[in-house]
Amino acid sequence: MERTFVMVKPDGVKRGLIGSIVARFEHKGFKLIQAKLIEIDTPLAERHYSEHAAKPFFGELVEFITSGPSFAMVWEGPGAVQNARTLIGRTNPSDADAGTIRGDYALSVESNIVHGSDSVESAEREIKMFFEGQL
Ligand code: PPS
Repeated sequence: MERTFVMVKPDGVKRGLIGSIVARFEHKGFKLIQAKLIEIDTPLAERHYSEHAAKPFFGELVEFITSGPSFAMVWEGPGAVQNARTLIGRTNPSDADAGTIRGDYALSVESNIVHGSDSVESAEREIKMFFEGQL
């Protein structure tokens, strides 16, 4: 069964949205495998976002994800990676459909409250990075 990595980012945690986001995944039918609150330090943030190192917003992204606790999760289900991306919605909340998490809870791409792995390979890499030795 496929697994994916999903994380409520610091803005979502600060706004008290962990419960609402977890509920959406549960209601969709995903199975929760692992979850923890985590303070991401700069080295882990730089590893997690390494594929975006050349982007102009990289520094901002690292600063944002290290600005407070995040809530990291592993969810399981058929087509988990793509189904989670659909539930989360487009990266820029302005483009995200109503009914998706970003479409309903976020206004700007800098604070889009949730991360979801973009491929099965990324999911495996991110699950290892955040839950090494725990699965
Ligand atoms: S891209 O440009 O399409 O490759 O990037 P994308 O995969 O859509 O986004 C990669 C992560 O960067 C975040 N992002 C931004 N942060 C700050 N400012 C701007 N302009 C910006 N654009 C994209 C985006 O939310 C992605 O973070 P995660 O945590 O993976 O959702």
